[in-house]
Amino acid sequence: MTPPNRSHGKQRVMQALKPRELMQDTPDYVHVWQAHVLTLFPELFPGVLGASLTGRALKESQWQLHAHDLREYGLTKHRNVDDTPAGGGAGMVLRADVVGPAIEAVQARAMGRWPILYMSPRGKRFDQAMARDLASCAGVTMLCGRFEGVDERVIEHYGITEVSLGDFVMTGGELAAQAMIDATVRLLPGVLGNAESTVEESHSDGLLEHPQYTKPAEWNDRAIPPVLMSGNHAEIAKWRREMSHKLTAERRPDLWAAHQARKDD
Ligand SMILES: C[S@@+](CC[C@H](N)C(=O)[O-])C[C@H]1O[C@@H](n2cnc3c(N)ncnc32)[C@H](O)[C@@H]1O
Repeated sequence: MTPPNRSHGKQRVMQALKPRELMQDTPDYVHVWQAHVLTLFPELFPGVLGASLTGRALKESQWQLHAHDLREYGLTKHRNVDDTPAGGGAGMVLRADVVGPAIEAVQARAMGRWPILYMSPRGKRFDQAMARDLASCAGVTMLCGRFEGVDERVIEHYGITEVSLGDFVMTGGELAAQAMIDATVRLLPGVLGNAESTVEESHSDGLLEHPQYTKPAEWNDRAIPPVLMSGNHAEIAKWRREMSHKLTAERRPDLWAAHQARKDD
């Protein structure tokens, strides 16, 4: 028999379980960050979240993922979820009387601070500060749209926050949900091992990270910058800080201006 995984004092999860099995509607463990995703394609989850550090943390119940099939809330024997846009036009819109009951069923499980987010190209652009804020919540409910999106009344009625992955349009919200969950889960205490750090990486302090190098010392006539091989930790830290400033100023003048303004405060 496969030995049980580390349980972190919560319910034990067997190592033999695959990420998809882990998502089956297990009870929500207290004090474990919860992601509830409403989607027409629950089979797309955990997707990338089932791999590497987020996947291991999912197996170890450091966070939980529940993908809910919107089709289960569909109407009539055909489980219809959408209809044509009021006022005419192309495409279909997810119905309020389908999405509403789905949200209510999920929110009945919500505890503490628990936002409802709609993945939407019209929303506020997701960033590291939002990931940090989400990681400090008890959980999140993410609504993934398809087609032309969701009936506006649902967004208004439940006070849903629209969040965008960037200024482009995808066919559905699932990739956005996975990206946002990934960025959030890696900030949860204990998810990243000692080898990884969220303290010095890009966006952690509003700046981009310095360049990274590893062996071999020489590759295609390119050497690692000598200061990194010097063993002088103060000089290395200084070089990294300078490179971080240089890269941020060159590539992201918006971030650099905000950094300068913070310094002047
Ligand atoms: C084809 S899009 C709908 C676009 C919508 N008609 C509009 O113009 O704003 C279908 C779904 O994909 C998701 N989506 C598309 N682009 C996105 C983005 N940049 N960020 C987050 N979600 C996105 C949303 O959930 C959206 O409801």
